[in-house]
Amino acid sequence: MSQTEEFTNICEAPIGVFDSGVGGLTVAREIMRNLPNERIVYFGDTARVPYGSKSKDTIIRFSRQIIRFLQTKKVKAIVIACNTASALALDEVEKDLDIPIIGVLKPGARAAVQTTQNGKVGVIATESTIHSHMYRKYICEQDPSVMVFGKPCPLFVPLVEEGWLKDSITEEVAHRYLEELLEVGIDSLILGCTHYPLLRSLIRRVVGDSVNLVNPAYETARELGELLRDQGIANPGYERQKAQERYQFYVSDAADKFKRFANSILPYDVETTKKINIEEY
Ligand code: DGL
Repeated sequence: MSQTEEFTNICEAPIGVFDSGVGGLTVAREIMRNLPNERIVYFGDTARVPYGSKSKDTIIRFSRQIIRFLQTKKVKAIVIACNTASALALDEVEKDLDIPIIGVLKPGARAAVQTTQNGKVGVIATESTIHSHMYRKYICEQDPSVMVFGKPCPLFVPLVEEGWLKDSITEEVAHRYLEELLEVGIDSLILGCTHYPLLRSLIRRVVGDSVNLVNPAYETARELGELLRDQGIANPGYERQKAQERYQFYVSDAADKFKRFANSILPYDVETTKKINIEEY
């Protein structure tokens, strides 16, 4: 069945996943692993990345365009894989929608509250995410006694995109960024940007074994599974397709570069990535 056709059964419809670019593939990867029956339509806004230094109004406008595009693919639910867009746009865009939409912040915040023993949680993310204080808000809604220490780490995104996941320069940068969080004694650290789970082993080396690392991408896939089951729209998986048919990728620019990155982190070969003009939506 082509993904532009109507789905006779809503359970068979895809999940729309979007991000400012390649980073949201860490979320798509967790959905693939944890919910293997689900189809995915992924959109990476590679023409307008980064979102992490842009204003709220701009991110809301971009998110609305992308959601309109994803709705043309008849998605049954939407995941905002981008932490920055989850922080700045989720509250606004969910008002317009009649299908479920989730971001990555609430699942990450919930997991951090559950894991902290000493009530000191660190959050690393883009500047816009940290300055939105949305991780703090969601954590305090769960448990107002938890203290939240935020630290923007803007150099991590280009370092990951350069492929320097284990490089000594990246490790030095991580030491500089994380030192003050370690000094205040955090015992849980939210990897609050799509790219950071790819630095997990390097960050583990820097923070040591006593700090629990929270991966919002994993937590989001888990919560998405619960949401689909609760709403009765999970795909039971009676007609399993090849990964190449189940997953579709769209970008706003540089489709080949996106495909190379996707192939370096996804568990199967992405054959096609289509470029679209997102400004038309
Ligand atoms: N995807 C963004 C996030 O998770 C990081 C990259 C960007 O700044 O656009 O916040």
